[in-house]
Amino acid sequence: MSYALSLQAHVPHEGQLKVTRLQPTFGAEVEGLDLREPLTPELRDEVRALIVQHKVIFLRDQHITREQQLAFATQFGPPVIHPLQKLKETQRKEDLPQGMHTIVPPTAEYGHIPKRRTWHSDGSWTYPVAFASFLRGVEVPEVGGDTIWVDAGAIYRGLPDRLKARLEGLYVTHEYKELALSGISHPIVAHPAVINHSETGEDLLYVDFIMHPWIVGWDRADSEALLSEIYEEVLRPEYHLRLKWKKGTLAIWDNRSTLHTAIHDYGDYPRRVERVVVGSNDVPSRDPSKRFVLPA
Ligand code: SIN
Repeated sequence: MSYALSLQAHVPHEGQLKVTRLQPTFGAEVEGLDLREPLTPELRDEVRALIVQHKVIFLRDQHITREQQLAFATQFGPPVIHPLQKLKETQRKEDLPQGMHTIVPPTAEYGHIPKRRTWHSDGSWTYPVAFASFLRGVEVPEVGGDTIWVDAGAIYRGLPDRLKARLEGLYVTHEYKELALSGISHPIVAHPAVINHSETGEDLLYVDFIMHPWIVGWDRADSEALLSEIYEEVLRPEYHLRLKWKKGTLAIWDNRSTLHTAIHDYGDYPRRVERVVVGSNDVPSRDPSKRFVLPA
């Protein structure tokens, strides 16, 4: 039985929530939630299970405030306070509650599609890593400005055996260089290139392509050559899920089992999405028998 089919057996079909799958291996639209109210513990657990099983879920027509978004998201983990938000200047300018980040492309990026690699996972540069992101469409263009996710399990399974074997035992750095440029000191963390999901047991590629990945102990050119080959697999459309935003759409995803990228194709439209990232006590591991989970 394929991984996608075995997951399907666990998807609830009864009760308050309506779940519509969006891609063969991941992604679902979930109806039946009102995020203005706190969830019961049972419903919270059900939503958490949906995030982990489907990897990305979309909730439409959630016209909530920042505070309601923060209150909803933090039912699933502690908010990750972005180091840049600690800079008083940034906080004052954006007037954001602690734990909420706005994503507005810098002016220089308007109107051009970056040539650099953009697929990434939020919070991969922390230790332990982030669990989920909750991203809400606040001001979005009528067309364009989509976000795309890729299934990290499908990427791994799609790699030829030769590449799977080469990745075994490797660690890759997740280096947030831009923090250093802002005068913030932050350690460079390294995680296994392939991890075993701590809740589903699935093997996943875990490389964040914007965090300056470098295979630990390898020559830069050799590391780049292998990561470039892997990146080809990330770009395969069969593994992608694309969201057309509407105001009030909330996208939620598991950062351990997906990568994502935003499409900058909307000229100078003032697109604005707002995000809460929640943490976990999960230290990614390749070998389930050696998994280390920080005490909660
Ligand atoms: C992100 O890249 O983390 C945000 C995605 C988006 O702006 O759509």
